[in-house]
Amino acid sequence: TPRVFSGIQPSGNLHLGNYLGALKRFVDWQDRDVESIYCMVDLHAITVWQDPSNLRQATRELCAGFIAAGIDPEKSILINQSQVPEHAQLAWIFNCVARMGWMQRMTQFKDKAGKNAQNASLGLLAYPSLMAADILIYHATHVPVGEDQKQHLELTRDIATKFNHDYGVDFFPLTEPVIEGAATRVMSLRDGSKKMSKSDASDASRINMTDDAEAIAKKIRKAKTDPDALPSEAKGLEERPEARNLVNIYAALNEQSVDQVLADVGGKQFSEFKPMLVDLAVAKLAPISTEMARLMQHPDEIDKILTRGSERARAITAPILRQTYDIVGLIPPV
Ligand code: TYM
Repeated sequence: TPRVFSGIQPSGNLHLGNYLGALKRFVDWQDRDVESIYCMVDLHAITVWQDPSNLRQATRELCAGFIAAGIDPEKSILINQSQVPEHAQLAWIFNCVARMGWMQRMTQFKDKAGKNAQNASLGLLAYPSLMAADILIYHATHVPVGEDQKQHLELTRDIATKFNHDYGVDFFPLTEPVIEGAATRVMSLRDGSKKMSKSDASDASRINMTDDAEAIAKKIRKAKTDPDALPSEAKGLEERPEARNLVNIYAALNEQSVDQVLADVGGKQFSEFKPMLVDLAVAKLAPISTEMARLMQHPDEIDKILTRGSERARAITAPILRQTYDIVGLIPPV
């Protein structure tokens, strides 16, 4: 059976892009006949400064988000990265396989490090190596992500290939990136050329998964658009990033293709389309935020779910790490 792995950073502001590009896809995969492992990547989060109490809160909130969105902690394995030490242990081996130049070429590193890259943490540079370890410590075959993670997944294949080649083994699989659905890259509601992101200073740029019905409606009503009517085919959206973004969001929320949506709404003005989007978004998203808030009242239950998930995960990761150590020539305890 295919083994699916993916992760989300607990760095606050879980948003509609995370939901449509990743979380909603995770739920689809869980309900197929596969083994699925989903991870709060807290060790990735601390590659940039996180206040400790905010990090704890964000990790629990993210876990609540997974469950509220439909991840069943019995069907899937739901884990916190730092509780499964084999991730970080394999990452060290990969740090010795991957080349510095590979890491320095990553666009996410360049964006996050900014102008003064010498002052970025060493962890931020090594980030993709830990990500490769997250995936390969399970020998995962399928990794559902949004489009912005494509380059990291290519690097994961490069690391697996070089490891297998250097040690003359066929041990780590070449993982398939799964980038699918109508909303693999959700854009800011204020600027159609920018990705919707956790770190955008403008809260109006994104719909947070903790937003209530009123906040969701307000942000959609205020979302930037253009003055034209909607086209009846997807190619009519090519030069209209804001319009395209709202149609993509509608399609993904309603589990339709963009062409199906446009067959219905083509010719309508935004004054008519936006209220439809508000109704749909509130119907799909508000129950998730309500359920998240309810789950957050029982943080000890969340902690138990993560502890239990880690135990199940380690039954997979410990033998794979042991085999890796053996391949590399590290003597395991007898
Ligand atoms: P992160 O935490 O930035 O984002 C989590 C997931 O959400 C997707 N995403 C989006 N999709 C569509 N539109 C957007 N605007 C948008 N913003 C974010 C991301 O593509 C991602 O799928 N490095 C990863 C976390 C990670 C991981 C892994 C993923 C660590 N280890 C192993 C897969 C496998 C990250 O920072 O995602």
